Amino acid sequence: MKNLKRLTGPIIMGVIVTTAILISGCTKEGPQGPPGEDGEDASSQCGTCHDVSTEIQAKEVQWASSKHKTGGNFERNASYCAGCHTSEGFIDVIENGNTSMVASESPTNPSPIGCKTCHQIHQTYTPQDYQLTTSEPVDLIVGDEPADMGKGNVCANCHQARDPEPLPQPGGGDVAIESPYWGPHHGTQTNMIAAQGGVEFEGDYDYSTGPHSDMEGGCVTCHMSDPYGDQAGGHNMSMTYAYHGHDAPLTSGCTQCHEGEDFDFNYGNVQTETEELLAELETKLIEQGIMDEEDHAIPGTYSATEAGALYNYLFVMEDSSAGVHNSNYSEALLKNSIDKLDS
Ligand code: HEC
Ligand code: HEC
Ligand code: HEC
Ligand code: HEC
Ligand code: HEC
Ligand code: HEC
Repeated sequence: MKNLKRLTGPIIMGVIVTTAILISGCTKEGPQGPPGEDGEDASSQCGTCHDVSTEIQAKEVQWASSKHKTGGNFERNASYCAGCHTSEGFIDVIENGNTSMVASESPTNPSPIGCKTCHQIHQTYTPQDYQLTTSEPVDLIVGDEPADMGKGNVCANCHQARDPEPLPQPGGGDVAIESPYWGPHHGTQTNMIAAQGGVEFEGDYDYSTGPHSDMEGGCVTCHMSDPYGDQAGGHNMSMTYAYHGHDAPLTSGCTQCHEGEDFDFNYGNVQTETEELLAELETKLIEQGIMDEEDHAIPGTYSATEAGALYNYLFVMEDSSAGVHNSNYSEALLKNSIDKLDS
């Protein structure tokens, strides 16, 4: 009933506009043309989505408890933040093909990342509108090759490293760090999976893609698998949910490839090992006065090795999967950085 009420407004508007066009078209008189074909009933088109099913409602509920809605950072609407932090800014960068994710202006009425950010809602008022706003491979801000993960490409645009300006180069010149927030920013996941955009010091460990780098659907396969209520998966996109007082892992997206009672996110001990390496590098960076206890850069001028090691620490830490996204690349960045700082 509520949906019906929401629909009558636009339909009445449509009738008024059409009538106005018809009347204004009558000022020049000519012979009457043949009658046109019957148009499609607008409400039947709207009804393909706004029907008795709970599909939209279920997705809205999942999204409403996701960090895309609750994170609150959509007030970061300056043009150079808005491309990833607001719905309007994202549509702007996609339409203008701006791969540095800088919007052409700062949206004055920003809204959080929502249905219209990722879907073409109400552009043709047909089921086509559920198509994604983009599924093109993404030219990374930091990295040489485009990242391509199918449906996950919509995510990859935003969940990628930013350029700390300057990006330390192995063997390159000193780096002046001016801000405690210096680094690759908070969402390095795409670079991690594509094995691109870290500071690749030479060392014993190879910088390679991992078993999850070429997955069809990428992010979507794991993060949007069958949901657990509104806490994880689906349009919530989180990987964990609260269950009887503890955090449970959402494995509905893993089972097509992994099975067994004891499978969890720490399969192969990957998370434990990554956490240990992160802690080891963290201690070194703090001891050497490059980073503080809150994992913020201490402004100053550093060698490319010091700045690069700091960047790599933040890169793996901000990926937030403790090695699951790409254990090979995480391990190589951390181990080679530790060795380089020691040498
Ligand atoms: C492809 C599916 C789809 C079709 C077709 C569709 N809608 Fe929607 N509509 C949606 C979704 C999804 C939302 C929720 C948008 C949001 O919350 O951002 C919505 C929201 C709305 C709203 C609430 C206001 C708003 O814009 O968020 C109205 C009113 C509405 N639709 C009317 C219509 C009418 C009238 C038609 C047909 C002329 C129509 N819709 C066709 C999917 C559709
Ligand atoms: C328009 C940019 C954008 C797109 C597109 C996008 N995200 Fe996000 N995502 C963000 C931002 C920004 C946040 C943090 C929101 C905040 O703090 O306000 C976030 C948060 C998240 C979180 C929660 C992170 C946490 O720390 O708990 C997950 C998980 C996530 N996104 C996954 C995805 C997946 C999967 C996709 C693709 C289906 C996707 N995102 C598409 C920008 C985006
Ligand atoms: C290339 C896309 C991109 C740009 C540009 C960008 N951000 Fe973000 N930002 C993200 C993503 C993605 C996340 C969420 C990452 C996650 O939770 O894993 C995020 C998270 C954040 C957070 C939340 C951190 C937390 O710990 O919860 C803040 C604050 C933030 N960004 C501020 C900014 C500001 C300020 C700017 C502009 C100067 C900016 N961002 C530009 C993608 C971007
Ligand atoms: C961050 C990006 C993102 C946001 C925000 C988002 N979606 Fe989606 N949505 C997707 C992706 C990606 C898929 C494809 C999932 C798959 O194939 O498993 C999808 C699939 C869907 C589908 C199934 C489409 C079909 O073709 O059957 C519906 C319905 C849908 N979304 C509705 C919504 C609604 C309603 C909202 C707002 C509450 C919303 N989405 C917000 C990314 C998003
Ligand atoms: C192989 C499955 C898989 C793929 C593919 C994947 N993720 Fe994850 N991701 C995970 C798991 C598992 C975690 C959580 C680890 C934990 O909580 O210990 C995670 C953590 C995250 C987090 C931290 C917040 C959270 O929900 O825990 C973000 C943000 C994120 N992933 C975004 C992405 C994006 C964006 C992509 C695509 C570029 C992606 N992921 C691809 C499995 C995956
Ligand atoms: C499309 C197939 C596929 C999916 C889906 C998938 N994985 Fe994997 N995963 C693999 C392959 C292949 C390997 C390497 C062989 C092995 O160790 O079993 C692997 C290895 C791993 C490893 C060991 C570390 C490493 O990099 O070798 C972890 C941890 C892992 N997967 C976690 C997950 C989690 C958690 C999910 C679901 C959120 C998931 N995987 C979904 C294919 C997949």
